[in-house]
Amino acid sequence: MAKKIRVAIAGIGNCASALVQGINYYHANRSDTRLKSDDTLRYNSNRNNAESNTDEKNIEHSRTSSLGLTAYNLGGYDPDDVEFVAAFDVIESKVGKDLSQAIFAEPNNTVFTSSVDNMDVKVQKAEVLDGIGDHYHGKVQISNEAFTDVAQTLKDTHAEILLNYLPVGSRDATKFYAEKCLETGVCFINAIPVFIASSPKWQQAFDSKGIPCAGDDVMSQIGATVLHKTLAKLFVDRGVNIDETYQLNIGGDMDFYNMLDEDRLEDKRISKTSAVAAMAPYDIPMRIGPSDYVSFLKNDKISYIYLRGKYFGNIPVEVDLKLRVVDAYNSAGIMIDAIRGAKVALERGISGSLESVSAYCFKHPPKQMSYNQAKKNFIDFIEGKIEI
Ligand SMILES: NC(=O)c1ccc[n+]([C@@H]2O[C@H](COP(=O)([O-])OP(=O)(O)OC[C@H]3O[C@@H](n4cnc5c(N)ncnc54)[C@H](O)[C@@H]3O)[C@@H](O)[C@H]2O)c1
Repeated sequence: MAKKIRVAIAGIGNCASALVQGINYYHANRSDTRLKSDDTLRYNSNRNNAESNTDEKNIEHSRTSSLGLTAYNLGGYDPDDVEFVAAFDVIESKVGKDLSQAIFAEPNNTVFTSSVDNMDVKVQKAEVLDGIGDHYHGKVQISNEAFTDVAQTLKDTHAEILLNYLPVGSRDATKFYAEKCLETGVCFINAIPVFIASSPKWQQAFDSKGIPCAGDDVMSQIGATVLHKTLAKLFVDRGVNIDETYQLNIGGDMDFYNMLDEDRLEDKRISKTSAVAAMAPYDIPMRIGPSDYVSFLKNDKISYIYLRGKYFGNIPVEVDLKLRVVDAYNSAGIMIDAIRGAKVALERGISGSLESVSAYCFKHPPKQMSYNQAKKNFIDFIEGKIEI
């Protein structure tokens, strides 16, 4: 029987919905898309030019079957080897439902791509703590059910990895789940901008318990952060001096509604800003972050990226870019890669913060890298060429 990766999720919002639907999509199409064993290390890049000359048919096959993933089979795992074993939320519309239904419950509003059969995973009520902020509170009802013992559930379901998909600003609730992971020996993957994998205190805590963690704040496939940091790096590499830059983001989902609460935004701004700032060896005046909520956009996110600089002869240059994406799906493939990277770490007995998995899949990793370097390190890690 194929090996599985047993995953628990905290926060059954749009991101969890896109992830579950996406894995179901790959599962439904697996007979068409399963790669032959000799295809397993074909990556979605022309990193190894030798590959592009070998068998074009196989490469075309690999490109479609692994759409949105670093590779269809990574570290020995296909996307549908990810198996959800536990789910936690706090709101009435989701708690008590099977995960297959909770992902479609309001106020989730991402696009539908795949129906999902009953998964036999009931969404359990967890402690709210600071998970629901003032804005969020106005749109949802907290469930009256008694809260479950999260640590016991992780143990009972033999979860190996817990994904943290809580709303921005959930500092206490994130720490709560990280502590439950430390208590139970479960790997923690942190999709949100609360600093765990990138904080020395937590790195040491995970290391001393012999457990890996990865994060923080998932970086979307073609998201504003990766585009902005790549453009900034290009300017610097091509000898352009960047004078100023901004990135304004709007959306119409609960993530953006919650982020109207500026008090909850501090870590998000730090996370997004640090990713771009790390690309230049000098300080650039910049303003980066979520900017408004526009309800009819639903889960579409629109980003405006602006850079202004000077090139040869002190001549000004400007880039103005608009990006429109379905936000939750933009990070789901990355999360499938992060889960498989974390599973490889578990198999190798690696503990503490995973440097290359985090640099490739997250905006605020323990060690910030350019996109190309991060991808190279991630693949080298999967192939066992580097330790973390
Ligand atoms: N591309 C992306 O969508 C992307 C990229 C980077 C980061 N993120 C981050 O991922 C997180 C999830 O995004 P989303 O769009 O799914 O958000 P969402 O608001 O749709 O979902 C959050 C879920 O967490 C639940 N929740 C609140 N408190 C909880 C608690 N204490 N325990 C368990 N569940 C709790 C909410 O009820 C809700 O179902 C956000 O922080 C977002 O900023 C998303």
